[in-house]
Amino acid sequence: MPAFEPTHLNTERLALRPIIAADAPALLAIFSDPQAMRYWSSEPWTVLLQAEAYVDYITLGRQDGSALCFGVTLAAGGALIGTCTLYAFDHRNRRCEMGYMLSRAHWGHGYMPEALAAMLDHGFDTLDLHRVEADIHPDNAASERVLERLRFQREGRLRERWFVGGELSDSVIYGLLRADWHAARPR
Ligand SMILES: CC(C)(COP(=O)(O)OP(=O)(O)OC[C@H]1O[C@@H](n2cnc3c(N)ncnc32)[C@H](O)[C@@H]1OP(=O)(O)O)[C@@H](O)C(=O)NCCC(=O)NCCS
Repeated sequence: MPAFEPTHLNTERLALRPIIAADAPALLAIFSDPQAMRYWSSEPWTVLLQAEAYVDYITLGRQDGSALCFGVTLAAGGALIGTCTLYAFDHRNRRCEMGYMLSRAHWGHGYMPEALAAMLDHGFDTLDLHRVEADIHPDNAASERVLERLRFQREGRLRERWFVGGELSDSVIYGLLRADWHAARPR
């Protein structure tokens, strides 16, 4: 698959940019927080090597066209406060999945919906996607609020799809069509 261009996106309060090797310590700080990782599909990270492996995965994904990850930074300051990612691309059917993580210190300010809106604009308008999916833990109310705000529709529940922290958990699947997005954001 064709590589994704290194992409920068700007919103009112945020700058989204490619993840680089120097981000590994900041990524470890974010992804090692057990509360932030409560509903993630893997355990909280414990060592820098995991963050470095993630940077490698993201870099490879951009090169082989399978994932496009943005580092989320505050426009005024530049520190990395989270990530949002389009991944699991099915290029033939013009669809992919979406994931996101914000440092707990920055929750509750609407930063992630703002970042995701910019990423979705890019996905639908520049990458020509037709559909974006999200898979969330049934108890992840904050994530559900974010998806509903972005006009994702709840499409179903898949049973016992993840085994995390010694527990099996279901997935709630959300979908957003290009038409839903453009209806919600007329231009
Ligand atoms: C889900 C997440 C991205 C939301 O980002 P955000 O920028 O805080 O989003 P918002 O500010 O719009 O808040 C969304 C909801 O989070 C909840 N929330 C806000 N502040 C919170 C806090 N300090 N603690 C717990 N929940 C909080 C609220 O329910 C809020 O909904 P409301 O605005 O209707 O009250 C963020 O909580 C996060 O990164 N969580 C951990 C990772 C995760 O679960 N990712 C999704 C996996 S699919």
